[in-house]
Amino acid sequence: MNDKPIILKRPELRRYLVPINTAATQQLFTDCLIIGAGVAGLRAAIEAASRGCEVVLVCKRTLEDSNTWNAQGGIASVLGSDDTFASHIEDTLTTGCSINDRNTVEQVVKDGPELVRELLKWGAEFDKQKDGSIAITFEGGHSHARVAHALGDNTGKAIAQALLNKVRQFDNITIVENFYTIDLITNDEAGCIGVIGQNAKGAMEIIWAKTTILATGGAGRLYRETTNPEVATADGHAMAIRAGALMRDMEFMQFHPTTLYIAGASRALITETLRGEGAILRDINNYAFMADYHKDAELAPRDIASRAIHTQMLKTGATHVFLDIRHFDKEHFAKRFPLISEIVTSFDIDISKDLIPVRPSAHYMIGGVKTDMLARTNIANLLACGEVASTGLHGANRLGSNSLLEGLVFGRIAGRLAAEQGGRNGTSLKKFRCDIPKSDRSRLDTVDVLNSLRSLMWRNVGITRQEKPLAEAQEIISFWQRYVLDKVFDSPPGWECQNMLTVCQMMAKAAEARTESRGVHFRSDFPEENDIKFKTHIEFA
Ligand code: SIN
Repeated sequence: MNDKPIILKRPELRRYLVPINTAATQQLFTDCLIIGAGVAGLRAAIEAASRGCEVVLVCKRTLEDSNTWNAQGGIASVLGSDDTFASHIEDTLTTGCSINDRNTVEQVVKDGPELVRELLKWGAEFDKQKDGSIAITFEGGHSHARVAHALGDNTGKAIAQALLNKVRQFDNITIVENFYTIDLITNDEAGCIGVIGQNAKGAMEIIWAKTTILATGGAGRLYRETTNPEVATADGHAMAIRAGALMRDMEFMQFHPTTLYIAGASRALITETLRGEGAILRDINNYAFMADYHKDAELAPRDIASRAIHTQMLKTGATHVFLDIRHFDKEHFAKRFPLISEIVTSFDIDISKDLIPVRPSAHYMIGGVKTDMLARTNIANLLACGEVASTGLHGANRLGSNSLLEGLVFGRIAGRLAAEQGGRNGTSLKKFRCDIPKSDRSRLDTVDVLNSLRSLMWRNVGITRQEKPLAEAQEIISFWQRYVLDKVFDSPPGWECQNMLTVCQMMAKAAEARTESRGVHFRSDFPEENDIKFKTHIEFA
């Protein structure tokens, strides 16, 4: 990889979304503040607390509202007797199209088995083989079976519950649900010193902390079609951008190939492990097309599978393709995939007779806050881990089931560093006031803007990209930004709209700048990789 990144100019934004006045705002103090209750945030909390650090963990809604909780397929790790670290590393690098950070890949892969076994010890109900060892399965891009799963296809929930049970054993962790973090508070001397947010009672609250760990998760809700829960609106990305964090790989949004497509119903993920265990993709003419696109057919990496489905939809003029699992044993299916079994049954799909309508949708944000091997960002005392971070693990395309693992590894690293950074020592700004002038521009309906934004992202910054639509997307977003970013809102929908506009603009800009195709980023006007110019990252500085 070329070590020199391509640098784009970061947007000029108002520093804070809301006015801040310490004299009129309630305040809380802690050693370590963690924003987000997915796998990375929870693992960080456990590590920091076990080393004596006082932790406050806030989450936007309830503890169940996270991408972690919804993860189906599993967690990738070298657990099989014929598997090796070298093979997992190689698969991650190959899928990532040569721009992964090799040190990060090695660290994550090598820490994997220990962290998965630790989860087992903490009560995660991983499915087992007859001999009592952890059951592992295949997913696209993996050359060995190495995806561990729990409660069938409820892996994320099982992992989150085990972590939460562990978290609850610590008196020095305080969990605060329904806390909407609006902005990171920073100053030149100390870097990040805390956050301002709105608590469950609707009051503004400042939390001062010696170390802040950003673990806010993903950004799937920037797209009309997504597997992500409602909370995944890129708030963490946006507040980091406003605070001056270096952002990297913003053009890389991963699309999951198979989301249940029933018009009017919400888009449920149909796990990739179904294909790992024999499901076949067919177009509306019943043609099994995947072998036309990749030698591994249904087991092709995600980017190839998503594009193949998209192309086949265009060729056949259909809104979807089908997953065929009619050959599966129905009883086994219900036990192995209870969640999907429940979902398809609720739509009267009988898997022994009917095909399952699916299509790709936005799934995982590879881009985020640039971090180093210690989860540090360029802002002092601000660490980041999980989906909001860009650790370099995934390169241009994430290998399925590597992200829960990444969250565990970098959550632990971040928690350890937070504990080492020590106590709060009076971290706070005794008096701080930041006012925002009133806007004299008209108000736009933010619900309307958001619906249009998500459709625009799907159409113009989606699976297949091209110069003109990308430029057009930036123009339209700039227009909305002029009327939305200058306002002061007093509740999450308004702040979310401001955050989404900020992040979408950077994604479109990065996608326009990468005039090649690599991993999840496909430019129909530049369909090949261009190693001379682009075997590197794009950063906003
Ligand atoms: C899936 O179950 O297909 C999703 C797993 C992942 O995104 O890693």
